[in-house]
Amino acid sequence: MRTISHLSTLAAVVSAFVGAQAADNAPAPWSNAALAPEERAKLVDQALTPDERLSLLHGIFAVPVFGLKLPEGAVGSAGYVPGVPRLGIPALQESDASLGVANPFNVRPGEGATPLPSGLALAATWDKDAAYAGGAMIGQEAWRSGFNVLLAGGGNLARDPRNGRNFEYLGEDPLLAGTLDGASIRGIQDQHVVSTMKHFAINDQETSRHGLSANIGEAALRESDLLAFELALEGGHPGSVMCAYNRVNGVYACSNDILQNKILKGDWGFPGWVMSDWGAVHGVEDISAGLDQESGEQFDKKVFFGKPLAEAVQGGSVPAARVSDMAQRILRSMFAVGLFEHPPKKTPLDADADAKVARHEAEEGTVLLSNPTGLLPLSHDAKRIVIIGGHADAGVLSGGGSAQVVPIGGAAVSIPMGGEGVMAPFHTTVFDPSSPYKAIKAKTSGAEIRFIDGAYPSAAAALAKDADAVVIFATQWMIEGEDVPDLTLPNGQDALIEAVAAVNPKTVVVLETGGPVLMPWLGKVGAVVEAWYPGAKGGEAIADLLFGDVNPSGRLPITFPVSTAQLPRPEIPGLGGPDAAQFDVDYTIEGADVGYRWFARKKQKPLFPFGFGLSYTHFDYANFKVEGGDTLSVGFDVHNAGKVAGADVPQLYLTDAAGKPKMRLIGWERVTVDPGASVHVSLKVDPRLLADFDEASHGWIITAGRYQIALGASATDLKQHGAAELSAVRLKP
Ligand code: BGC
Repeated sequence: MRTISHLSTLAAVVSAFVGAQAADNAPAPWSNAALAPEERAKLVDQALTPDERLSLLHGIFAVPVFGLKLPEGAVGSAGYVPGVPRLGIPALQESDASLGVANPFNVRPGEGATPLPSGLALAATWDKDAAYAGGAMIGQEAWRSGFNVLLAGGGNLARDPRNGRNFEYLGEDPLLAGTLDGASIRGIQDQHVVSTMKHFAINDQETSRHGLSANIGEAALRESDLLAFELALEGGHPGSVMCAYNRVNGVYACSNDILQNKILKGDWGFPGWVMSDWGAVHGVEDISAGLDQESGEQFDKKVFFGKPLAEAVQGGSVPAARVSDMAQRILRSMFAVGLFEHPPKKTPLDADADAKVARHEAEEGTVLLSNPTGLLPLSHDAKRIVIIGGHADAGVLSGGGSAQVVPIGGAAVSIPMGGEGVMAPFHTTVFDPSSPYKAIKAKTSGAEIRFIDGAYPSAAAALAKDADAVVIFATQWMIEGEDVPDLTLPNGQDALIEAVAAVNPKTVVVLETGGPVLMPWLGKVGAVVEAWYPGAKGGEAIADLLFGDVNPSGRLPITFPVSTAQLPRPEIPGLGGPDAAQFDVDYTIEGADVGYRWFARKKQKPLFPFGFGLSYTHFDYANFKVEGGDTLSVGFDVHNAGKVAGADVPQLYLTDAAGKPKMRLIGWERVTVDPGASVHVSLKVDPRLLADFDEASHGWIITAGRYQIALGASATDLKQHGAAELSAVRLKP
């Protein structure tokens, strides 16, 4: 008897341990894919031991630095959260991927990935399909590299053109940024890889990001930075949201009940999990403010979501039900995105196909800023072209920090920059191996192509004097953790451009910059092209555009000011101060009037406005019709009045809302039109863009009245005007 009972106890123990396959080998109840992800998550949660549950709630920075040994099974990148093998729960293998799958500190020796052009380049495409394709590409590369979570989906607004991370984000407008962010997140998650949306919220400058408080009223925040996230959430349904380092109105973002519980999970009904940024957890109390998972735990003062959380549960300060909620939110997203059914498989990348995605984005996102005498496109028959600076003989610039991608085949040029602090190991300027020099050479039939580094303006000018065309590559490197102090081109490049343009007016300046720069030489050069950080095939894309094999169609997603004196904050708050200094950044100055809206309010003329970009053809707009009601419906025709095919981005702006002057992008379309042809566009405006956020009644309100809108080629080039009556509407927050 005794033996039998002993055996049956053993059987019970064994059955508990195999879990996923119970004693009768029946599949675990949560393996039923017909159940809703929430339901499946609940079933797993019921099977978890308390220790297992806790183990899902915190993870490491998965790189063997700071004395860490990489645990067995960790692929190695920004994050790793072990799974629960007994229940068949996969580990979370997390990688940064703002612009491609990262490989920090070469943790996966020699493993490269395809770098997409910068976020601003993507935003300059105004192309949802390009955003989806880029997301799908990095999602697929991540999946083939063993990752199932990407720390992608950066959607912070470019409130300041000096923000060191603008190159990871999607510009200054919430509609543009949120729409493209959502499409890119959807692309990632369609590959069965969870995407985050980050950095929630208003992490809009890097200087003292660990200490500053971003101060702003609720209505202004809802109509700007939060609107971008809200739209990205609706468009992309990210499995996870990453809370930011900074404080918002005095409270750290990851400790912020209003942001995480009330707005994200409450008003917006976000069903996934909130993960911390690396080193952004301030205590177990963050859990009651809505934080679900501690990431990169080595960076926090302690592993708060380990033992301290277990003690808090025992002591009753964190309810066990909340811990289950945290685990279920993670599991829900894992089920919703297909992490159980479609585990990543180490497979070679399809580098050629992926490079095409990057190239297409660069071609669409490069902006022709100036071409007053038609110097561009260059002739394929040019006899002598001089290329200057920017390491253009070897490659194209990329941005630094956690978004840094190790390009396939390695960097073309890699320059250690030195420095101090946590970000110091990231201080290397990397050029992707796509040589503009070679690409330009390939466009000509045997022209003499010369390259000079541009270190000495006099030497560059001497070489450039008699060239048929000169192309100067000017660079501005940006990196996470730092802002640029001002908008000048560094390292004497302005003087270089002046010296060369003085001897040869057929000078084209190609900018490879993290964002806007000043151009004191603008009137003296023949053409200016903003190529941002153009990614894996940037050199080829630039050459295509310079020679007219691709017609430029990018439009600025960010205002280029004449000087920093035009900005809401002429100086970057805290610049030069100690790291993580605690101070306030006053965003009430501009409120929701970010970028072009600030310029409109102050009646300032920028160097180049939001939405601006030239083409080798030109477009006219006709038959502009506006209908009112609960929202605005708009129709118009776009006519290509030039001689070559091209793509245009007609933009709709609200200019007056029921008697109140306003300036706000409310819609756009990207259309390709043959010469002489017309394309009809119909747009229905998201009513939130016509509304004000009303704090008192907690919702969006459209005041009844007449709404005036304009159809423009940029925020300052409004070509057609119309108006319609709207009825009073109230929308949920
Ligand atoms: C960045 C995040 C990144 C994380 C992990 C942080 O410093 O702010 O964007 O995902 O590191 O590398």
